Amino acid sequence: HPKALLRAIQEDGDFLVKLANQHIVSGDQFDQDTMKQLFRLAAKIESNPKRFSSPLQNKILISAFYEPSTRTRLSFESAWHRLGGDIMSITDRSTTGIAKGECLADVAEMFNNYGDCVVLRDNNESSLFEMMDALRIPIINAGNGVDEHPTQALSDMYAIFKWRPTLLNAEENDKIKIGVIGVPNKMRTVRSFLKCLSVFPHAVDELVIIHDEASTGELFGQGQREELESRGIKIRTVTELDPVLPELDVVYINAISWEGDTFNTYGSAFHLTADSPLKEDAIILHPLARGDELATDLDHTSHNWYFSQARGAVFLRMALLTCMVERAERVIDVV
Ligand code: CP
Repeated sequence: HPKALLRAIQEDGDFLVKLANQHIVSGDQFDQDTMKQLFRLAAKIESNPKRFSSPLQNKILISAFYEPSTRTRLSFESAWHRLGGDIMSITDRSTTGIAKGECLADVAEMFNNYGDCVVLRDNNESSLFEMMDALRIPIINAGNGVDEHPTQALSDMYAIFKWRPTLLNAEENDKIKIGVIGVPNKMRTVRSFLKCLSVFPHAVDELVIIHDEASTGELFGQGQREELESRGIKIRTVTELDPVLPELDVVYINAISWEGDTFNTYGSAFHLTADSPLKEDAIILHPLARGDELATDLDHTSHNWYFSQARGAVFLRMALLTCMVERAERVIDVV
């Protein structure tokens, strides 16, 4: 699969060089060409990871996760290790000066001295921006409250294009129906996913949002629906899952919906199981962790692309980190 994706994209490293030393905050930052080149590099790495074992030698990642994470933290750390770098990991802010009232700008100033890149997950939406103002090394948003999770979205898109590389180029005239089970306004993964998807309107026949009745009035955050529609993406919203499932090529399901400082799970409203009326060749994506909404009897079916999505995130993050850290420019030239 990575090789098919490689063949579908012509190399143009200039787009990747522009990512050097950039903060990664939002799915908005990626245009079509940059995403394609990033996917190309990720596919190249996935095809032969050993060739990329040293570009971040002597570089240090500060991995700061102040909210639980299995995939994002470990895949970023795995990516950095695989690229030959070293890691300092903070998994609890109470072990830092923040617990004694130290301001985030001062913490960021120290990060400048100790590392070469920061990955931050924080349940507070604004912490990322407070740190960015003081940082001279790049920071990656690994989930800021309910706001965004851009590298998850890039990993989601990478999985879709590996599944069907013909969707990459408008000339192929291939289109799919995508169902999103969830509420973009309350789910950071969904919000970022739709931002990245909006860059490839030629690939979307229709976007169907499947949501609970309670969220009807507040499905999208400010301007997101208008932005998608202005790019030519047709949107339908429904509150029942099974009637629409047989139409969908990709089903993106999520577990958690944020309500202020707490969250609700979606499993009580919507479930996917091996008996769900899915199209025979439909794929399911899920950022994980899963709850009741995604039955384990799907794991051994061809619909399961959620494990591949999580695995591919390592290579996508290797590609991104390689581009963001200065000396990686040389690596792009070499490969
Ligand atoms: N997809 C995702 O963000 O998973 P984690 O919460 O385990 O990092």
